[in-house]
Amino acid sequence: MEQDTNRLKEAAGKAVVDAMVKSGMKLGLGTGSTAVHAVRRVGELLAQGALRDIRAFATSFQTEIECEKLEIPFYTLNSRELSGGLDLTIDGADEVDPSNFLIKGGGGALLIEKLAAYASSSFAVIVDESKLTEKLGMGFPVPVEVVPEARVQVTKALEKLGAAVSLREAVRKAGPVITEHGNLILDIRFGSSVDPSVMETELNQIPGVVENGFFTRNPPVVYIAFSNGTVETRGRQ
Ligand code: A5P
Repeated sequence: MEQDTNRLKEAAGKAVVDAMVKSGMKLGLGTGSTAVHAVRRVGELLAQGALRDIRAFATSFQTEIECEKLEIPFYTLNSRELSGGLDLTIDGADEVDPSNFLIKGGGGALLIEKLAAYASSSFAVIVDESKLTEKLGMGFPVPVEVVPEARVQVTKALEKLGAAVSLREAVRKAGPVITEHGNLILDIRFGSSVDPSVMETELNQIPGVVENGFFTRNPPVVYIAFSNGTVETRGRQ
């Protein structure tokens, strides 16, 4: 089963790179078990010489390490090579709704993933069919990254908005997940339907919130891998 899903993720990763990545691009590379297949395909095409002069931006430690292994040159967003802008970012998602609004941050990398997505002229998301949903915010939890000092106060503010809140716990380490920026993650679920684009702004207005996992401002083209072996695209190319 897990192997089948991995095959779908790989198909989506290959399809998006082959269709959208061109030599000379400033390229945002996402995080997670789906995005890694796109990173590997970029590495493969660079090694074959089919792609040249890619300047990459890695959205997490995990992705930096993959770029190191594959010898994909990567830079900070502030570097002269990227100067705060990207041609294309490719990333995974936890859920995608019919407007191609997203929940991201299951892997805790939402802050830098959002910087990349919103600094990109084009944004592409790769998912397997299990990530499609009608309504965001009621199933897969929306991550909210908060500064540690604001944990209790933000929790109360989120509860006032009607959300059930849980502090994300680390695995194989006692205590909470600490993000790559020294913050905590509150995973929230709404009991009734919310407008993701309104909520994306509203959550960030709470003092102490650094970023949240609704992605609605730069709707992506979505590559969806289906179990019948096909990969379909949805949204603007
Ligand atoms: C990382 O923080 C996330 O936004 C991932 O892109 C998202 O969780 C999807 O991950 P998988 O591709 O591993 O399901």
